[in-house]
Amino acid sequence: MKATAKAHSNIALIKYWGKRDERLNLPAVGSISLTLDALHTVTSVHFDSALNDDELILNDEKAGDKETARISAFLDLIRQMAGMTHKARINSQNNFPTAAGLASSASAFAALALAAAKAAGLSLSRKELSVLARQGSGSAARSVYGGLVEMKRGSAADGRDAYAVRLAEPDYWDLRLLIAVTSEAKKPVGSTAGMRLSERTSPYYHAWVDNSENDLQDMRQAVQQKDFEKVGELCEFSALKMHALALSSNPGLIYWNGATVEGMHVVRSLRRTGLPVWFTIDAGPQLKALCLPEAAAKVTEALQNVPGVRQVIECRTGPDALVLNEEAPL
Ligand code: PMV
Repeated sequence: MKATAKAHSNIALIKYWGKRDERLNLPAVGSISLTLDALHTVTSVHFDSALNDDELILNDEKAGDKETARISAFLDLIRQMAGMTHKARINSQNNFPTAAGLASSASAFAALALAAAKAAGLSLSRKELSVLARQGSGSAARSVYGGLVEMKRGSAADGRDAYAVRLAEPDYWDLRLLIAVTSEAKKPVGSTAGMRLSERTSPYYHAWVDNSENDLQDMRQAVQQKDFEKVGELCEFSALKMHALALSSNPGLIYWNGATVEGMHVVRSLRRTGLPVWFTIDAGPQLKALCLPEAAAKVTEALQNVPGVRQVIECRTGPDALVLNEEAPL
């Protein structure tokens, strides 16, 4: 009734923004991501008949009611699948500061899905794990796999065909993602609320959904051909389109700060000097630069010199989520 699992975060190169069903957390569009080695979550779950409530420890501190309730609702799915009612003690650690505004829900829900399913005695396939993780957070469905990953939008009403598949193994391509941390504040509008607002108010929402299949198809092909220039171009295009959607919501969602904008210009000016580097940005102010290994040192130096950039974290392609020794202490 006890297990520990580790999952890595990921960065979407083709972005997910919008839900076709909010209750089941079904995406309105597919997405493609790169799993990141440098950012991970290790989570242990212990189902215990002596507990009256679920207890969540997050980075060595007791989590608040809101966070615990979100985790409890997720564990209910697993309890239902396993036909049991035991409450659980959950201990989750990120190797990066949660407050740093870096995506933690992807690695968190992938690690939780894996550890909790194992602790509950369920033996799930990666596909079933991805379906499960998706119900915690859309991006978590992708963190079940390492390498390059595609999340399928699916069309079934119950979400059974909305899961991630592997596009390429972790060792397929040596890519680097450099994260320029520009703020450590928690973002004011989370992704679920932001997506809801865009769907309701952006005049561009339907165009975004209608065009998404083209981007996915082009990215799949670029990955298959190892055409880095094409991958980079599509990655920037998707990020800017997603932010155009956020900006055109009402009230407009501005996830950037000054350093984010300056970082975009720096990446483009590096590119004009011949360096293979493109940017992407999630629902927050961190600027992420995608490049080939030979460009990493120069790009890191240039981003470190952008006023407002606090640190640059270098990530390589990360591995699959995995179960650690079931009795291993964190
Ligand atoms: O699934 P969530 O709630 O982590 O939302 C992810 C939204 C973006 O990070 C902005 C895009 C993406 O595909 O990861």
